[in-house]
Amino acid sequence: MPLMTTRPMFADAYSGGYAVGAFNVNNMEIIQGIMQACAEENAPVILQISKGARRYADMAYLRALIDVAVKKYPRIPIAIHLDHGDTLDLVKQCIADGFTSVMIDGSHEPFDDNIALTRSVADYAHAHGVPVEAELGMLGGIEEDVVGASAEEYAANIEKYLTDPTQAHDFWQRSGCDSLAVAIGTSHGAYKFKHEARLAFDRIDAIMKICPSLPLVMHGSSSVLEEFVNLINQYGGQMPNAKGVPESAVTRGAGMGVCKVNIDTDIRLAMTAKIREVFATKPSEFDPRMYLGPARDAIVAMVRHKLRVLGASGKAEQIMARYQASPEYKG
Ligand code: G3H
Ligand code: 13P
Ligand code: ZN
Repeated sequence: MPLMTTRPMFADAYSGGYAVGAFNVNNMEIIQGIMQACAEENAPVILQISKGARRYADMAYLRALIDVAVKKYPRIPIAIHLDHGDTLDLVKQCIADGFTSVMIDGSHEPFDDNIALTRSVADYAHAHGVPVEAELGMLGGIEEDVVGASAEEYAANIEKYLTDPTQAHDFWQRSGCDSLAVAIGTSHGAYKFKHEARLAFDRIDAIMKICPSLPLVMHGSSSVLEEFVNLINQYGGQMPNAKGVPESAVTRGAGMGVCKVNIDTDIRLAMTAKIREVFATKPSEFDPRMYLGPARDAIVAMVRHKLRVLGASGKAEQIMARYQASPEYKG
């Protein structure tokens, strides 16, 4: 089965009230861990690759790893997605490399410039059969000290940070995007909240009402599992006060129209925790397989758990059926 776009995935997730996991890939152990977990859970997957990952691993290596995954797991729906693309040129390179989905992130641009950039990418990508994720609003916690503003400044500018539902509709219509990453209080990395986790679900609700059929995307959705943070701190790391998005919030978003949930930090933490554990408990070990192996095993268990949190377990067959019935299926 060839790689598919995210279209059949989102159609199924949207109507089924679940979300597809989008996991960042940077090396062999990561893709192996993700794929094994998806195969064991019978779940679809979006393998996402950032500009930094392309630079770090060399796209030719990553592409070869993905080709192996596609061959090895013919029953698992797989999409390759550009995470946080920033230029049309990068999007063109990714499409030439066989990506089946791209993100253009113009969220830091003024509204009209974000629309213009996204429109240019959508025109190009659609001509090549590739769907486009865009972003509107700025990722950041719903806490003044997380976004680096005073309480007054934050309260006065909250609209600058969270996605505005009316703007979302206008943006969707004018940009031609196929899915939209929304800012509802999540942020990238391991320090998402200084106090209690708060997310603006009312925004998702309002955007869903005003933009029916538009699949939404939650970035910054790692839950920063205590198990890994504790191991890191126990074995010489320093990650005090690391805090993520509660899994109940991720499940809630998935049931409300969020079709794609991005997870990278939880992979980084799982690897780091296990590698630190081996280094600390077996100081004479120097075979990389002896620490990368446990790191990969931890990714398998963590991703399996996430797929259940997202409601994506067991959805592979129905997405394959949608794909085979869609115009993109070439037989
Ligand atoms: O959103 C960011 C992802 O975690 C990817 O991070 O750009 O360091 O590869 P990266
Ligand atoms: P996390 O940092 O929460 O894993 O988010 C990853 C992400 O949004 C990638 O685009
Ligand atoms: Zn992101």
